[in-house]
Amino acid sequence: MSNKVEKDEFSGTDTTGHEWDGIKELDTPMPRWWLWTMYASIIWAIGYWIVMPAWPLISSHTAGFLGYSSRGSLEQELADATAAHAEDRNALVTMELSAVKNNSQLYQFALRGGKSAFAVNCSQCHGSGAQGAPGFPNLNDDDWLWGGDVDAIYETIKYGIRSDHDDTRIGEMPAFLTDEMLTKEQINDVAEYVLSLSAEREDTAAVDRGQEVFMENCASCHGDKAKGGRDFGAPNLTDAIWFYGKDKDIILRTISRGRNNVMPAWVDRLDDATIRQLALYVHSLGGGE
Ligand code: HEC
Ligand code: HEC
Repeated sequence: MSNKVEKDEFSGTDTTGHEWDGIKELDTPMPRWWLWTMYASIIWAIGYWIVMPAWPLISSHTAGFLGYSSRGSLEQELADATAAHAEDRNALVTMELSAVKNNSQLYQFALRGGKSAFAVNCSQCHGSGAQGAPGFPNLNDDDWLWGGDVDAIYETIKYGIRSDHDDTRIGEMPAFLTDEMLTKEQINDVAEYVLSLSAEREDTAAVDRGQEVFMENCASCHGDKAKGGRDFGAPNLTDAIWFYGKDKDIILRTISRGRNNVMPAWVDRLDDATIRQLALYVHSLGGGE
């Protein structure tokens, strides 16, 4: 092994001076373009450190001369978007809700806004497609506890149901066993009666006894024909749509221990234009009256 640097005849490049068994190592320089690209990257990086937020500090980071932050730019974009929609939002809050449909551009704007506000605020309880779940009503059907025209929906969303707002909708399904208003037998009978309204029942004697119990204890809220009562948010008991479930066990539990699910009031959380968009969106889902 020798250490002599010499010029390689064939390529014209210097060798490193390393040689093994007659094979010499060439000391080929980096291509120019590569070197320049690397220098340019270094200069770019230094410039970037100076103008953009870059280096971590103990509890923050260097801000950079431009003061850019992705959060700031998002805020700006949101403000721009709100400003761009200001006209539509103003129109929405000054118009009768039922009249918005006649203005197709404004109506489309409301539905789009309502859809995204629903995904953010409502879907965790009502489901992403507003299909509901036991105790959380399906908003796609035309079965309404509190009313399905757009103004009624608007009021429900604004003040909630059994919420902490003073103007909330109230109505209570009493706990007939817990509060000793009915006996277990009476509750079984009235459950049979309720079930008989939507399906054949075998124990017709219980159904007959249950009807009496119903007239005395339940009709005041659910109606003589058990078609429901919107003043109290009492569900229609004659259809195939069940709020809590169609099984007898569930119905027994409802009558025995009562039910009082809560829908929050949105008036203090969302602005009026958004609540109106939501009302129009929910109304458009298929069941609007
Ligand atoms: C914390 C869960 C929850 C959230 C969040 C929620 N809701 Fe509700 N909502 C309920 C419950 C529970 C009821 C049924 C109340 C009752 O028992 O009458 C209900 C009822 C309703 C009703 C009345 C249905 C009828 O049949 O009359 C409408 C309309 C409604 N919600 C719309 C919305 C909208 C729009 C949002 C989003 C802004 C929303 N809800 C967010 C729980 C929720
Ligand atoms: C003071 C009014 C009131 C009275 C009286 C009343 N209910 Fe209710 N009932 C309601 C309300 C309100 C609901 C809905 C509860 C909720 O939204 O969480 C309800 C819900 C129900 C449900 C659940 C329906 C479903 O779709 O899952 C059944 C079943 C029911 N009531 C049966 C009865 C029976 C039987 C009686 C008489 C023994 C009775 N109710 C008396 C107000 C009343």
